[in-house]
Amino acid sequence: MNWSPLLRWYAREGRDLPWRKTHDAYRILVSEIMLQQTQVSRVLVFYKTWLKKFPTWHVLSRASNAEVIHAWAGLGYNRRGLMLRDIAKRIVTHGLPKTEQDWLKLKGIGPYTAAAVASFAQGQTTVPIDTNIRRVLGRVLLGKTFPSSDDDARIRRHVTRYALRNSHWQAVFDLAVAVCKKDPDCATCPLRSQCPASKKF
Ligand code: ADE
Repeated sequence: MNWSPLLRWYAREGRDLPWRKTHDAYRILVSEIMLQQTQVSRVLVFYKTWLKKFPTWHVLSRASNAEVIHAWAGLGYNRRGLMLRDIAKRIVTHGLPKTEQDWLKLKGIGPYTAAAVASFAQGQTTVPIDTNIRRVLGRVLLGKTFPSSDDDARIRRHVTRYALRNSHWQAVFDLAVAVCKKDPDCATCPLRSQCPASKKF
């Protein structure tokens, strides 16, 4: 598997998103939690105002329930905002988790988010699998047209050997949304010649 065509495609077509310009774990975690159930265009607006109001773990840790719920309103699932504040409290007293496993111990952080923060903020070589990443990697590595979470272990085994970096993951997000959709545009895909699933569409 040669990932260079994907990186070249990303240099041309990739989205310029604010959380891609930072390695600050706080900013990355905020973006990942917001992106869980909300589309990028909507998150962009809330992300900016949230960071103005709560620029650091420390400021967020001291916010009241009412302040958090007010700032989160419009994103849905208020619980996620309160969880983020509680995580900030824990981090202010206990320090920043250092590994994917440590992130996973925090209440409200699942396997995807733990891997995403460890990888995007802390440069660790982990495998964050969400539905978009699963669809692209399941197709290109396993040849499955519609991979499910049952395929995650195999995806993980296959992809580990490539030690994909942050830019690869960001490229995969964008490919998933722009090209490798449920109904994919294989004709414009930079990985088409290497993708066993492309022959099935
Ligand atoms: N969804 C989750 N993380 C993302 C990111 N960094 N860019 C785009 N979509 C995402």
